[in-house]
Amino acid sequence: MKATVKGKKTLSGKVRVPGDKSISHRGAIVGALARGTTKISGFSPSQDCASTLDVLGKLGVSISIDESFVQIEGKAGRFNQPKEKLHAGNSATTMRLLAGAIAPMPIRVTITGDDSLLRRPMGRIIEPLSLMGAKVISEGGGGFPPLTIEGGNLRGIEYSPPQASAQVKSAILLAGLGATGKTRVRELYPTRDHTERILRQAGVEVFQSENVVTLHPGVPRALELEVPGDISSAAFLLAGAMICPGSTVEVSDVGINPSRSGFLEIARKMGGDIEVEVTDSGFEPKGRITARYSALKGTRIEPREVARAIDEVMLVSLLATQAQGTTIIEGAGELRHKESDRLSATASGLKKLGARVEEREDGFVIEGPCELRGAQVDPYKDHRLAMMFAIAGAAASGVTVINDWEWIEVSYPNFVADMRKLGVEINRGE
Ligand code: S3P
Repeated sequence: MKATVKGKKTLSGKVRVPGDKSISHRGAIVGALARGTTKISGFSPSQDCASTLDVLGKLGVSISIDESFVQIEGKAGRFNQPKEKLHAGNSATTMRLLAGAIAPMPIRVTITGDDSLLRRPMGRIIEPLSLMGAKVISEGGGGFPPLTIEGGNLRGIEYSPPQASAQVKSAILLAGLGATGKTRVRELYPTRDHTERILRQAGVEVFQSENVVTLHPGVPRALELEVPGDISSAAFLLAGAMICPGSTVEVSDVGINPSRSGFLEIARKMGGDIEVEVTDSGFEPKGRITARYSALKGTRIEPREVARAIDEVMLVSLLATQAQGTTIIEGAGELRHKESDRLSATASGLKKLGARVEEREDGFVIEGPCELRGAQVDPYKDHRLAMMFAIAGAAASGVTVINDWEWIEVSYPNFVADMRKLGVEINRGE
């Protein structure tokens, strides 16, 4: 399916975005590992989180879903032996976090996924989980999925992942819950800390310093969890406001956990007019974010900043096309291992729209500002690329056609309705 977006639009209005995907995955997994009944409101409506619920159901976890809550009956650290292969769809978070959660259990589980997931690197979790004592087999060879996990009898380790990855950190911590002794992860740069926060909320002993996390084994207790709006979804609309003249967009109830809100700081550094009002300072803080059309300027983005805005780097590159001067993004090589090779796909799509982008091994050099012109672009079945191109299309002249549109369901099924609410003419077609 394709989508068409008419350009030269002003975005204005107030919206709420779907529940945070990362927090929803973790709420479901920690709830399933807990003792007692967990109730989650604001659960993400994404296909990725539906994959996590589906896999948990096949592991014997009883889950009920109604309009306001997802309710999970915890298995107190012990899933059932599934009868079939489990399917994680497009979701690497499902595969990596669940591989970790399963690793201490005496069961044998194979997890597969769609074509994109079968190309995602799993060596990064196979190594630490194997060091802890699990048997994890790459059925695809070379560290690629499907993965077969034969769990049981783990010991805690101290481990420094060679890449900054919240999924790797979380897989190790979840495995550490059922290991003997403590587990420690030392990160290259701090990444999103939702797993640490939710486990602490569930009574597990987790200690964090800047980039070191230490966890003591234990069974989490059940939670009542309110998931805030997804800042990675909100970022599209906020970016649209900053690059489309005359725009003002307000997004309420968005998660503003500092380990996750790097995009807001980068945008401000570029001169972005962004206001944040904290409305809830609970264990996952929330706020109301307002973005306005801004006179942006080029900047230099370093690896540490990339780690806190890993899913928003493509949007930063879009902002850079409208900013005065040169923007250099470094240390973003991990983007080559996402749902698509996001460095190459972003560079080729933005160039088609008329931007001056040089793709480098680990980032971009972008010269701005430039006049974007509508074109047909390919997001390579990657939800975030499809939505980034839709935002670019709203700022461009003429009409932008985006291929593979159906993939937006992976994270933000309501994106078209929200864009229309803000005044963008966007249509789905053949
Ligand atoms: C995620 C971590 C990031 C991010 C992904 C979600 C998470 O992946 O890109 O969308 O929920 O932990 P990596 O850990 O591979 O960087």
